[in-house]
Amino acid sequence: MAPTKPVDGLLRQIIMPVDVGSDTVKLSLGASSVEVALKGATVISYVHDGRERLFVSSKSDIRTSDSTAIRGGVPLCWPVFGPPPAGNELYSKLKQHGFARTNVWEVADQQDSKDGVKVVFKLSPTEAIKSVFKLSFALIYTVDLRPYSLRLTLHVANPSNAVAALPFQTALHTYFRLPQGVTPPDVSVDGLENLAYNDKVSGEQKVTERRKEVVIDGPNGEIDRVYFRAPNELVMRFKGQTETVKVTKSGFADAVVWNPGPKKGSTIADMEEGGYDRYVCLEGCQVEPFVYLDPGKDWTGTYEVSFGQ
Ligand code: BG6
Repeated sequence: MAPTKPVDGLLRQIIMPVDVGSDTVKLSLGASSVEVALKGATVISYVHDGRERLFVSSKSDIRTSDSTAIRGGVPLCWPVFGPPPAGNELYSKLKQHGFARTNVWEVADQQDSKDGVKVVFKLSPTEAIKSVFKLSFALIYTVDLRPYSLRLTLHVANPSNAVAALPFQTALHTYFRLPQGVTPPDVSVDGLENLAYNDKVSGEQKVTERRKEVVIDGPNGEIDRVYFRAPNELVMRFKGQTETVKVTKSGFADAVVWNPGPKKGSTIADMEEGGYDRYVCLEGCQVEPFVYLDPGKDWTGTYEVSFGQ
């Protein structure tokens, strides 16, 4: 397949900056690469500094022909996060985390410069989507591979000819692969102190976080918390290691920390054997309140992953 743009060196002729396949799109920039499944525009691989940074269960089916969500990478939750709100006709036909993560997105644009490689994905209402969600919308998702980071931008628009406001929740449900020898109880997240959170394990609501470093150490290893109004910079640390993962976000007001632990994790049908020990999810979310977009209005959220020492 020919490169997408004229190339200036042998390396760029061998490694195409953007390679659009029938199931995935691959982006390459020097020693970094990203792979995005067209199903859900789910980022399924991010290699930085020669190491895979995302976890994807080997039981996932990444093909466009399959309609189940991918267990891992960065599933995009929209227009709801978690179970759809009960008793509301608008959401009654939606599944957990909505339909954006299971529908096939189009490649709308691609750009390649010395500053990075970008692919823009688009999702608009198809007949299948209209049968479960009746509102108009346009989703644009930009995957931007930069020399030292991966920047993900979700843009949601309610078309100006829409007849109603567009209410939604959203999340970039990132499964961070843990470094070799690290398991979830060795992981902590900085930046959540003094925030209110809902604990989906105990059912408690609006508890105040007292810890400076939140360790992934819930009952039976399970942690599932929505932190409200999280700061725009969060840092994940690994016990005994100097390397850190930095998440920088905007627009997504909330953050979720999730790992099911061994007891629940081993009951998840598409989880590979022991997979729950290989990741922690640190998600940029907009959970509460729903965003309400009037016709002609839009919303943008960014979520950027980089690494420190
Ligand atoms: C998390 C939720 O973000 O996603 C959890 O907070 C949920 O409650 C998890 O279990 C995984 O969801 P799913 O639908 O991909 O199994």
